[in-house]
Amino acid sequence: VSARLRQAAAAVDEARLWNRHVEMARHGARDDGGVNRQALSPEDAAARRLLVSWATEAGFACATDPIGNLFVRREGRELGAAPVLSGSHLDSQPAGGRFDGVYGVLAGLEALQAIDEAELATRRPIEVVAWCNEEGSRFAPGAMGSAAFAGAQPLSTLLDIRDREGTRVEDALAATLAAGPPLRQRPLGFPLAAYVEAHIEQGPVLEAEGRTVGVVTAIQGARWFAVEVHGSAAHAGTTPLRSRRDALRSAVSLVTRLEEAMDDPTDTLRFTVGRFEVSPNSPNTVPERVAFSIDLRHPDPRVLDERARAVAALCRASRQPCEVEVREVLDLPPVQFDETIVELIERSAATLGLPNMRLPSGAFHDAMHLARLCPAGMVFIPCAGGVSHSPRESARSSDLAAGARVLGQVLFELAR
Ligand code: GLV
Ligand code: MN
Ligand code: MN
Repeated sequence: VSARLRQAAAAVDEARLWNRHVEMARHGARDDGGVNRQALSPEDAAARRLLVSWATEAGFACATDPIGNLFVRREGRELGAAPVLSGSHLDSQPAGGRFDGVYGVLAGLEALQAIDEAELATRRPIEVVAWCNEEGSRFAPGAMGSAAFAGAQPLSTLLDIRDREGTRVEDALAATLAAGPPLRQRPLGFPLAAYVEAHIEQGPVLEAEGRTVGVVTAIQGARWFAVEVHGSAAHAGTTPLRSRRDALRSAVSLVTRLEEAMDDPTDTLRFTVGRFEVSPNSPNTVPERVAFSIDLRHPDPRVLDERARAVAALCRASRQPCEVEVREVLDLPPVQFDETIVELIERSAATLGLPNMRLPSGAFHDAMHLARLCPAGMVFIPCAGGVSHSPRESARSSDLAAGARVLGQVLFELAR
């Protein structure tokens, strides 16, 4: 077995993996070196076509499901055996980087191809997946494809979600699928033997500790809220301040109160207002409406619940002179990964002589939904300065390949 594990790792082709990152980054390339490839956009459709073309060339079959997850499959020896699955997402933030998401898909494909080129037969099929809309910036919330797959949210609800232009997920998905080759349809939530996702860390720990591989033990919980503040539009030159219902002034004061209430002396809590939209957004009109987002995270479910209740209460208490509406749009409890998978990843990194450490994930990932269905885990590799969700995101080719080698061994071990 150990000889075959070595073969799987040795067949990982660092140059091919790097070149695929470069090619993928052309779809949605930004002038600043980053990527804007939001879910179900024409750029996302092009990235999906590229993945299908690489998979098809390598002799693997592709398929999709009702939420537009994209699967690449290498058959196993045993008919009907549940597959071992690996992957991540191809969509990006509006001002995203070249590695968040894409790496997990390309590392999965590289591992699959390495196992195939080393001619290692497995009992179980191995599959690679590109989950639909992980980022959630165009269609909120994120991790939509894996949520639908795991039954965390009903398909019909997700298909009905609209972006800010009013386009529904269902229509954007139909356009995306129509822009690619015809694919076999399969059901949501088919049985899985295990799920392992590779990702850049998106934080500073691995780089600071000088480790090549992060063995992910858990994902902290996240809650998202959509807040709307409703006032009245009026003339900026003529309307006295005291008679205004200025939605922006109310929103700014609400955000200030929220920030004070979310203060955490241990600096563990994460509180972000990342979107803030003013309408009509004109210099000489009193703002009529402000819409803003809240992203709240904590590893402890009780603290997270308590803070989330405080957020909702503060928003509801804020009434005069504007009305405030608050809607919770995402509730992701913290997730603990399977100890068997954690140990398998740890052992694989050690066998390859790669410095490694256990750590929790601050970002959420599709793996959190999969952990409800089957034993699941994640492999992290470092990224420069821990920077992610930024065009400055960067990772080293040798680290990308190291993570793919670990993944190749782990997938083979789980499927053999
Ligand atoms: C994933 O993109 C996250 O926001 O954690
Ligand atoms: Mn990601
Ligand atoms: Mn992301």
